[in-house]
Amino acid sequence: MNANESQAAGRELLKVAMPKGRIYKVASQLFRDADVPIPSDFDDTRKLIIELPDAGMSFIMAKPVDVPTYVEYGVADIGIVGKDVLMEENKDVYELLDLGIAKCRMSVIGLPDWKPVIHPRVATKYPSVASQYFREQGQQVEVIKLNGSIELAPLIGLADRIVDMVETGQTLRENGLVEMETIFGITSRLIANRVSYRMKNEAIQSLCDKLQHAIAAKALV
Ligand code: PRP
Repeated sequence: MNANESQAAGRELLKVAMPKGRIYKVASQLFRDADVPIPSDFDDTRKLIIELPDAGMSFIMAKPVDVPTYVEYGVADIGIVGKDVLMEENKDVYELLDLGIAKCRMSVIGLPDWKPVIHPRVATKYPSVASQYFREQGQQVEVIKLNGSIELAPLIGLADRIVDMVETGQTLRENGLVEMETIFGITSRLIANRVSYRMKNEAIQSLCDKLQHAIAAKALV
């Protein structure tokens, strides 16, 4: 069945925003475990919209940070996104399910010989998360937004500390940095557009159930 035939049969495809990059492999495997047959050759494709009419779904291959935006505006009905992005972007979406994949944490990081200073500079890809964290700690900091390789900042004297994601800790170890505090744990979440959740509830709920079974089965292994 192609997309037109599926729509002619009265079945509108469920539009899923999938994050490209490090989450994609584990997320697509979780969908396969949930009986959504994402072909393995999608892993390396440069195509941005992929339809799976037989599964009743179409996938938008998105930059992870943009997933909540697509879902908030309803151009995707549901999406997969890390809790880090959800906390930073603060979009008006439903958080439906903790998928338990792509586990890592958001941490405050610095050089081991870091000494407290007045108005420290904090570099991060997550300015909103970092500002809120230090505000809650009652500390005044200057937040500097960077877009990647955040660990460079304390090494080259741009910042006193950084707020960044830690997964294996390898980047920290290789650059002589230490984790000072964990701010929150991160896993990928399934999110939904508020209107889609009502209008396509059956399809979304059915996918949620299948994903939950796949997550539970994985936990037993
Ligand atoms: C992320 C994060 C850390 C690194 C942590 O960077 O910002 O730099 O991964 O992973 P680890 O604990 O397993 O070493 P990413 O690979 O997304 O690239 P970036 O530096 O461009 O942000």
